[in-house]
Amino acid sequence: TIKGVIFDLDGVLVDTACLHYEAWKKIADKLNISFSEKDNEKLKGVSRKDSLDIILSQGTEYFSEGEKSQLLLNKNNDYLTLVNQINKNDVLGGVVKLIEELKCKGMKISLGSASKNARLILELTGLYHYFDYIVDGNMVVKAKPAPDVFLMGAELLGLSPSECLVFEDAQSGVQAALAAGMKVVGVGEYALLHQATFVVPNLIGFSIEDYIK
Ligand code: G6P
Ligand code: MG
Repeated sequence: TIKGVIFDLDGVLVDTACLHYEAWKKIADKLNISFSEKDNEKLKGVSRKDSLDIILSQGTEYFSEGEKSQLLLNKNNDYLTLVNQINKNDVLGGVVKLIEELKCKGMKISLGSASKNARLILELTGLYHYFDYIVDGNMVVKAKPAPDVFLMGAELLGLSPSECLVFEDAQSGVQAALAAGMKVVGVGEYALLHQATFVVPNLIGFSIEDYIK
C-alpha cells in the first residue's frame, strides 16, 4: 500500500513549465538556435545545466565554460523575474484539494524537484507548509532520469519505494520514478507519458482513493 506521495514541482503543482520555456526561448532566439515547444518537452525535469547543453547542441557554435555560466545566469535571472510574479492562483487545478485529501488520510508528502528555485516557488504559492520534506536541485543527487531524487525522498519519509507514489509531468521524471521502483502518475499527455503506471491529463477532480490500493 501507498503511504507517501512525492510530487514533482514544475508542471505538476505549479504552472511554471511555461515560464522555464519562455526564459529558454529568449536565450535560444538570441543565439539563433531554433527551439520549439516540442523541443522543450525534452527539457522538462532536466537540470538547468543539462538543459543548456541540450539547447546549445542544436546549434553549431562552440561555447566556453565561462560563456555557458553567463548564459545560465541570464536564464535564471529572466526566469526569476517571471517567477516572482506568481502566487496562490498559479497553483494548478486540483492540487490543493489533493494535498488536503492526503493530509486527511495521514499520508506523508515530499517534493522531488530538479529545480534550485523550488523552495522559493513553494513559498510564493503558499504550498510550503504542506511538505514534510523537500528534495530539490540544490541537494547533491544525480539528476532525473536517475532515481536518486525520489529515493532520497522515500528515505526521508521513512518509506520503502513500493510505499511511495510519484506525480510527474516529465518523461525524465517518469523514468526516474520507475527506476526507483515506485508507481507514478503521469500528469499530462498520454502520448508523451505512456510509460507511467497511470496517466491523467491534469489533477482536477483527482482523488487518491483509486490509486493507493
Ligand atoms: C525542473 C524543470 C526544468 C528545470 C529544472 C531546473 O525539473 O522541469 O525545466 O530546468 O527544474 O530548474 P531551475 O529552477 O533550477 O533552473
Ligand atoms: Mg516537472
